[in-house]
Amino acid sequence: MDRKLDHTSSYQRIGPSQFSDLTGFYDAQKAPANLTETRRRVDAFVNKHSSTGRRIVLVTSGGTTVPLEAQTVRFIDNFSAGTRGAISTEQFLERGYAVIFLSRQYSLLPYSRHYSHSKNCFLDFMKPDGLGGITVAPQFTPAMLKVLEKYNSVKQQGLLEVVNFVDVNEYLFLLREITASLSTIRERAMFYLAAAVSDFYIPLGKMVVHKIQSGDGALHLELDQVPKVLSPLVKEWAPKAFVVSFKLETDPSILISKAKTSLARYGHQAVIGNILSTRKYHVILITNEEEKDIRLPEKEADAGAEIEGLFIPELISRHEEWIRQASLQN
Ligand code: PMT
Repeated sequence: MDRKLDHTSSYQRIGPSQFSDLTGFYDAQKAPANLTETRRRVDAFVNKHSSTGRRIVLVTSGGTTVPLEAQTVRFIDNFSAGTRGAISTEQFLERGYAVIFLSRQYSLLPYSRHYSHSKNCFLDFMKPDGLGGITVAPQFTPAMLKVLEKYNSVKQQGLLEVVNFVDVNEYLFLLREITASLSTIRERAMFYLAAAVSDFYIPLGKMVVHKIQSGDGALHLELDQVPKVLSPLVKEWAPKAFVVSFKLETDPSILISKAKTSLARYGHQAVIGNILSTRKYHVILITNEEEKDIRLPEKEADAGAEIEGLFIPELISRHEEWIRQASLQN
Protein backbone atom coordinates (compact mmCIF):
# COMPACT_ATOMS: atom_id res chain seq x y z
CA MET A 1 0.00 0.00 0.00
CA ASP A 2 1.34 3.44 -0.93
CA ARG A 3 1.26 6.14 1.66
CA LYS A 4 2.06 9.79 2.03
CA LEU A 5 4.13 11.20 4.85
CA ASP A 6 2.33 12.51 7.86
CA HIS A 7 4.12 15.83 8.33
CA THR A 8 3.58 15.75 12.09
CA SER A 9 6.00 18.37 13.18
CA SER A 10 6.66 20.85 15.90
CA TYR A 11 7.54 23.41 13.23
CA GLN A 12 5.28 25.86 11.49
CA ARG A 13 3.94 24.55 8.18
CA ILE A 14 4.79 26.51 5.03
CA GLY A 15 3.32 26.31 1.54
CA PRO A 16 4.72 24.42 -1.48
CA SER A 17 7.53 25.60 -3.84
CA GLN A 18 7.86 28.89 -2.05
CA PHE A 19 11.56 29.60 -2.20
CA SER A 20 12.52 30.95 -5.53
CA ASP A 21 12.82 33.94 -3.18
CA LEU A 22 16.00 33.46 -1.17
CA THR A 23 15.09 35.66 1.77
CA GLY A 24 12.14 33.36 2.35
CA PHE A 25 14.48 30.40 2.48
CA TYR A 26 16.78 31.91 5.06
CA ASP A 27 13.86 33.20 7.15
CA ALA A 28 12.11 29.84 7.30
CA GLN A 29 15.11 27.55 7.80
CA LYS A 30 17.09 27.20 11.01
CA ALA A 31 20.65 28.56 11.07
CA PRO A 32 23.35 26.09 12.17
CA ALA A 33 24.38 26.41 15.82
CA ASN A 34 28.02 27.20 14.93
CA LEU A 35 27.21 30.02 12.48
CA THR A 36 28.26 32.97 14.65
CA GLU A 37 31.44 31.24 15.82
CA THR A 38 32.31 30.28 12.22
CA ARG A 39 31.77 33.84 11.04
CA ARG A 40 34.09 35.10 13.77
CA ARG A 41 36.77 32.58 12.73
CA VAL A 42 36.43 33.39 9.03
CA ASP A 43 36.48 37.15 9.67
CA ALA A 44 39.73 36.77 11.61
CA PHE A 45 41.23 34.69 8.77
CA VAL A 46 40.16 37.18 6.09
CA ASN A 47 41.42 40.18 8.09
CA LYS A 48 44.79 38.55 8.72
CA HIS A 49 45.40 37.80 5.04
CA SER A 50 43.79 40.90 3.64
CA SER A 51 46.27 43.02 5.63
CA THR A 52 49.13 41.40 3.67
CA GLY A 53 47.36 41.73 0.31
CA ARG A 54 47.16 37.97 -0.17
CA ARG A 55 44.42 36.64 -2.43
CA ILE A 56 41.87 34.36 -0.78
CA VAL A 57 39.82 31.62 -2.42
CA LEU A 58 36.76 29.88 -1.04
CA VAL A 59 36.83 26.27 -2.21
CA THR A 60 33.59 24.35 -1.66
CA SER A 61 33.94 20.59 -1.70
CA GLY A 62 32.00 17.36 -1.24
CA GLY A 63 28.29 16.68 -1.46
CA THR A 64 25.45 18.05 0.64
CA THR A 65 22.85 15.78 2.22
CA VAL A 66 19.10 16.25 2.44
CA PRO A 67 17.69 14.95 5.74
CA LEU A 68 14.30 13.24 5.64
CA GLU A 69 13.66 13.65 9.38
CA ALA A 70 14.44 16.56 11.74
CA GLN A 71 16.05 14.05 14.10
CA THR A 72 17.89 12.57 11.19
CA VAL A 73 18.20 8.85 10.70
CA ARG A 74 17.78 8.86 6.92
CA PHE A 75 19.02 11.28 4.32
CA ILE A 76 19.56 11.62 0.57
CA ASP A 77 23.17 12.19 -0.42
CA ASN A 78 24.89 13.88 -3.34
CA PHE A 79 27.79 12.32 -5.19
CA SER A 80 31.27 13.69 -4.40
CA ALA A 81 34.22 12.28 -2.50
CA GLY A 82 35.73 15.76 -2.16
CA THR A 83 38.69 14.81 -4.35
CA ARG A 84 38.36 17.80 -6.66
CA GLY A 85 38.11 20.26 -3.78
CA ALA A 86 41.00 18.77 -1.79
CA ILE A 87 43.40 18.63 -4.77
CA SER A 88 42.39 22.13 -5.86
CA THR A 89 43.05 23.51 -2.40
CA GLU A 90 46.62 22.20 -2.50
CA GLN A 91 47.08 23.80 -5.93
CA PHE A 92 45.82 27.21 -4.74
CA LEU A 93 47.99 27.06 -1.61
CA GLU A 94 51.08 26.24 -3.68
CA ARG A 95 50.35 29.27 -5.84
CA GLY A 96 50.18 31.75 -2.96
CA TYR A 97 46.48 31.83 -2.11
CA ALA A 98 45.00 31.52 1.36
CA VAL A 99 42.10 29.06 1.27
CA ILE A 100 38.79 28.77 3.09
CA PHE A 101 37.83 25.15 2.58
CA LEU A 102 34.07 24.65 3.00
CA SER A 103 33.79 20.93 2.92
CA ARG A 104 31.50 18.03 3.71
CA GLN A 105 32.44 16.53 7.06
CA TYR A 106 34.62 13.41 6.63
CA SER A 107 35.17 13.96 2.90
CA LEU A 108 38.74 14.27 1.61
CA LEU A 109 40.98 16.97 3.08
CA PRO A 110 44.03 18.57 1.43
CA TYR A 111 47.28 16.73 2.24
CA SER A 112 45.74 13.98 4.37
CA ARG A 113 43.82 12.91 1.24
CA HIS A 114 47.02 11.22 0.03
CA TYR A 115 46.64 8.69 2.82
CA SER A 116 42.91 8.42 3.46
CA HIS A 117 40.31 6.74 1.21
CA SER A 118 43.34 5.20 -0.50
CA LYS A 119 43.57 1.53 -1.37
CA ASN A 120 45.98 1.04 1.52
CA CYS A 121 44.86 1.32 5.11
CA PHE A 122 46.97 4.05 6.78
CA LEU A 123 48.47 1.35 8.99
CA ASP A 124 50.03 -0.19 5.88
CA PHE A 125 52.28 2.89 5.61
CA MET A 126 53.83 2.23 9.02
CA LYS A 127 55.99 -0.34 10.70
CA PRO A 128 57.33 -0.98 14.21
CA ASP A 129 60.75 0.65 14.70
CA GLY A 130 62.02 -2.23 16.85
CA LEU A 131 62.36 0.07 19.89
CA GLY A 132 58.73 0.00 20.95
CA GLY A 133 57.80 2.89 18.61
CA ILE A 134 56.47 3.27 15.08
CA THR A 135 58.14 4.54 11.91
CA VAL A 136 57.04 5.12 8.31
CA ALA A 137 57.95 2.19 6.08
CA PRO A 138 61.03 3.24 4.02
CA GLN A 139 59.38 2.82 0.61
CA PHE A 140 56.73 5.43 1.58
CA THR A 141 59.02 7.89 3.38
CA PRO A 142 60.14 10.21 0.50
CA ALA A 143 56.60 10.83 -0.77
CA MET A 144 55.16 11.20 2.72
CA LEU A 145 57.92 13.61 3.75
CA LYS A 146 57.08 15.90 0.82
CA VAL A 147 53.40 15.96 1.77
CA LEU A 148 54.23 16.49 5.44
CA GLU A 149 56.53 19.44 4.71
CA LYS A 150 53.87 21.18 2.61
CA TYR A 151 51.20 20.49 5.22
CA ASN A 152 53.36 21.85 8.07
CA SER A 153 54.27 24.96 6.11
CA VAL A 154 50.59 25.74 5.39
CA LYS A 155 49.76 25.16 9.05
CA GLN A 156 52.59 27.34 10.34
CA GLN A 157 51.53 30.22 8.10
CA GLY A 158 47.84 29.78 8.93
CA LEU A 159 46.91 29.65 5.25
CA LEU A 160 44.04 27.19 5.47
CA GLU A 161 40.72 27.57 7.29
CA VAL A 162 38.47 24.51 7.26
CA VAL A 163 34.70 24.84 7.74
CA ASN A 164 32.47 21.74 7.67
CA PHE A 165 28.91 21.17 6.54
CA VAL A 166 26.79 18.06 6.31
CA ASP A 167 23.36 19.02 4.97
CA VAL A 168 22.32 21.50 2.31
CA ASN A 169 20.82 23.84 4.89
CA GLU A 170 24.13 24.19 6.74
CA TYR A 171 25.94 24.63 3.43
CA LEU A 172 23.68 27.50 2.32
CA PHE A 173 23.91 29.37 5.63
CA LEU A 174 27.68 28.93 5.86
CA LEU A 175 28.17 29.94 2.22
CA ARG A 176 26.24 33.19 2.75
CA GLU A 177 28.19 34.02 5.90
CA ILE A 178 31.61 33.28 4.38
CA THR A 179 30.68 35.26 1.28
CA ALA A 180 29.80 38.30 3.39
CA SER A 181 33.21 38.08 5.02
CA LEU A 182 35.12 37.56 1.75
CA SER A 183 33.29 40.37 -0.04
CA THR A 184 35.36 42.82 2.01
CA ILE A 185 38.46 42.04 -0.07
CA ARG A 186 36.51 42.68 -3.28
CA GLU A 187 38.40 41.57 -6.45
CA ARG A 188 41.05 39.68 -4.49
CA ALA A 189 38.46 37.07 -3.50
CA MET A 190 37.84 34.01 -5.66
CA PHE A 191 34.92 31.63 -5.29
CA TYR A 192 35.56 28.11 -6.55
CA LEU A 193 32.27 26.28 -6.11
CA ALA A 194 33.08 22.60 -6.62
CA ALA A 195 30.65 21.19 -4.04
CA ALA A 196 27.84 18.99 -5.34
CA VAL A 197 24.88 20.89 -3.93
CA SER A 198 21.48 19.22 -3.61
CA ASP A 199 18.86 20.57 -5.97
CA PHE A 200 15.90 19.39 -3.89
CA TYR A 201 15.20 19.38 -0.15
CA ILE A 202 12.48 19.09 2.45
CA PRO A 203 11.84 22.46 4.12
CA LEU A 204 11.96 22.44 7.91
CA GLY A 205 8.25 23.17 8.15
CA LYS A 206 7.38 20.08 6.11
CA MET A 207 9.77 17.68 7.75
CA VAL A 208 8.71 15.00 10.22
CA VAL A 209 10.46 15.20 13.57
CA HIS A 210 10.95 11.52 14.32
CA LYS A 211 12.23 8.56 12.36
CA ILE A 212 9.90 7.58 9.51
CA GLN A 213 8.39 4.22 10.38
CA SER A 214 8.70 1.35 7.92
CA GLY A 215 6.20 -1.44 7.51
CA ASP A 216 3.36 0.61 6.03
CA GLY A 217 4.27 0.18 2.36
CA ALA A 218 5.94 2.51 -0.13
CA LEU A 219 7.03 5.97 0.88
CA HIS A 220 6.23 9.03 -1.25
CA LEU A 221 8.37 12.10 -0.77
CA GLU A 222 7.80 15.57 -2.14
CA LEU A 223 10.92 17.70 -2.31
CA ASP A 224 11.01 21.45 -2.90
CA GLN A 225 13.59 23.08 -5.11
CA VAL A 226 16.69 24.45 -3.40
CA PRO A 227 17.08 28.14 -4.30
CA LYS A 228 19.96 28.87 -6.68
CA VAL A 229 22.39 30.82 -4.53
CA LEU A 230 24.80 31.54 -7.35
CA SER A 231 22.60 34.37 -8.53
CA PRO A 232 22.57 36.49 -5.31
CA LEU A 233 26.18 35.53 -4.61
CA VAL A 234 27.35 37.02 -7.91
CA LYS A 235 24.96 39.95 -8.09
CA GLU A 236 24.56 41.04 -4.47
CA TRP A 237 26.70 39.28 -1.88
CA ALA A 238 30.13 39.60 -3.51
CA PRO A 239 29.68 41.52 -6.78
CA LYS A 240 33.40 42.34 -7.17
CA ALA A 241 34.73 38.83 -6.65
CA PHE A 242 35.93 36.36 -9.28
CA VAL A 243 33.47 33.45 -9.32
CA VAL A 244 33.99 29.98 -10.79
CA SER A 245 31.20 27.42 -10.74
CA PHE A 246 31.22 23.78 -11.79
CA LYS A 247 28.84 21.95 -14.08
CA LEU A 248 28.61 18.21 -13.70
CA GLU A 249 26.77 16.15 -16.29
CA THR A 250 26.68 12.52 -17.36
CA ASP A 251 25.64 13.25 -20.97
CA PRO A 252 28.54 14.91 -22.89
CA SER A 253 26.21 16.28 -25.56
CA ILE A 254 24.59 18.79 -23.16
CA LEU A 255 27.61 19.81 -21.06
CA ILE A 256 28.74 22.89 -22.99
CA SER A 257 25.26 24.28 -23.54
CA LYS A 258 24.39 23.83 -19.85
CA ALA A 259 27.64 25.52 -18.80
CA LYS A 260 26.99 28.44 -21.16
CA THR A 261 23.43 28.80 -19.90
CA SER A 262 24.74 28.95 -16.34
CA LEU A 263 27.30 31.61 -17.29
CA ALA A 264 24.66 33.72 -19.03
CA ARG A 265 22.09 33.29 -16.25
CA TYR A 266 24.33 34.11 -13.29
CA GLY A 267 26.80 36.49 -14.92
CA HIS A 268 29.88 35.07 -13.23
CA GLN A 269 33.38 34.65 -14.70
CA ALA A 270 33.97 30.97 -15.46
CA VAL A 271 32.43 27.52 -15.48
CA ILE A 272 34.41 24.30 -15.30
CA GLY A 273 32.41 21.64 -17.12
CA ASN A 274 33.05 18.00 -16.32
CA ILE A 275 31.55 14.61 -17.12
CA LEU A 276 31.18 12.19 -14.24
CA SER A 277 33.12 9.33 -15.85
CA THR A 278 36.01 11.42 -17.23
CA ARG A 279 36.29 14.21 -14.64
CA LYS A 280 39.77 13.21 -13.51
CA TYR A 281 41.43 13.75 -16.88
CA HIS A 282 39.17 15.99 -18.92
CA VAL A 283 37.45 19.33 -18.18
CA ILE A 284 36.21 22.23 -20.27
CA LEU A 285 36.93 25.77 -19.12
CA ILE A 286 34.17 28.09 -20.30
CA THR A 287 34.24 31.87 -20.04
CA ASN A 288 32.43 34.56 -22.01
CA GLU A 289 35.39 34.72 -24.37
CA GLU A 290 36.39 31.10 -24.82
CA GLU A 291 35.76 27.42 -24.51
CA LYS A 292 38.96 25.57 -23.65
CA ASP A 293 39.28 21.81 -23.72
CA ILE A 294 41.78 20.69 -21.08
CA ARG A 295 43.04 17.11 -21.00
CA LEU A 296 45.56 15.37 -18.81
CA PRO A 297 47.73 13.16 -21.03
CA GLU A 298 47.67 9.52 -19.96
CA LYS A 299 51.44 9.44 -19.46
CA GLU A 300 51.27 12.37 -17.03
CA ALA A 301 48.33 10.79 -15.20
CA ASP A 302 50.32 7.58 -14.84
CA ALA A 303 53.21 9.59 -13.40
CA GLY A 304 50.89 10.98 -10.72
CA ALA A 305 49.90 14.34 -12.27
CA GLU A 306 46.39 15.69 -11.61
CA ILE A 307 44.24 17.71 -13.98
CA GLU A 308 43.76 20.48 -11.39
CA GLY A 309 47.46 21.25 -11.99
CA LEU A 310 46.51 22.18 -15.56
CA PHE A 311 43.34 24.21 -15.18
CA ILE A 312 43.92 26.01 -11.87
CA PRO A 313 46.87 28.05 -13.27
CA GLU A 314 44.47 29.06 -16.08
CA LEU A 315 41.92 30.27 -13.54
CA ILE A 316 44.56 32.09 -11.55
CA SER A 317 45.83 34.02 -14.57
CA ARG A 318 42.24 35.07 -15.33
CA HIS A 319 41.79 36.12 -11.71
CA GLU A 320 44.97 38.20 -11.93
CA GLU A 321 43.63 39.89 -15.05
CA TRP A 322 40.31 40.50 -13.24
CA ILE A 323 42.20 42.27 -10.43
CA ARG A 324 44.31 44.26 -12.91
CA GLN A 325 41.26 45.45 -14.82
CA ALA A 326 39.59 46.55 -11.60
CA SER A 327 42.68 48.50 -10.53
CA LEU A 328 42.63 50.38 -13.87
CA GLN A 329 39.04 51.45 -13.20
CA ASN A 330 39.66 52.63 -9.63
O1 PMT B 1 34.65 15.33 -5.32
P1 PMT B 1 34.85 14.53 -6.59
O2 PMT B 1 34.47 13.11 -6.38
O3 PMT B 1 36.22 14.74 -7.14
O4 PMT B 1 33.82 15.12 -7.67
C1 PMT B 1 33.94 16.45 -8.10
C2 PMT B 1 32.63 16.96 -8.73
C3 PMT B 1 32.29 16.12 -9.93
C4 PMT B 1 31.50 16.89 -7.70
C5 PMT B 1 32.92 18.45 -9.14
O5 PMT B 1 33.91 18.49 -10.11
C6 PMT B 1 31.64 19.15 -9.67
O6 PMT B 1 31.32 19.07 -10.84
N1 PMT B 1 30.90 19.87 -8.77
C7 PMT B 1 29.64 20.56 -9.07
C8 PMT B 1 28.55 19.53 -9.18
C9 PMT B 1 27.18 20.13 -9.20
O7 PMT B 1 26.45 19.94 -8.24
O8 PMT B 1 26.79 20.85 -10.21
P2 PMT B 1 25.32 21.51 -10.35
O9 PMT B 1 24.94 21.45 -11.75
O10 PMT B 1 24.32 20.92 -9.40
O11 PMT B 1 25.54 22.99 -9.84
C10 PMT B 1 26.18 23.94 -10.66
C11 PMT B 1 26.71 25.08 -9.84
O12 PMT B 1 25.64 25.79 -9.19
C12 PMT B 1 27.67 24.60 -8.75
O13 PMT B 1 28.83 25.38 -8.81
C13 PMT B 1 26.92 24.84 -7.45
O14 PMT B 1 27.79 25.30 -6.42
C14 PMT B 1 25.89 25.93 -7.82
N2 PMT B 1 24.61 25.75 -7.12
C15 PMT B 1 24.02 24.55 -7.08
C16 PMT B 1 22.81 24.41 -6.40
C17 PMT B 1 22.25 25.53 -5.75
N3 PMT B 1 21.11 25.45 -5.07
N4 PMT B 1 22.84 26.70 -5.83
C18 PMT B 1 23.99 26.85 -6.51
O15 PMT B 1 24.52 27.93 -6.60
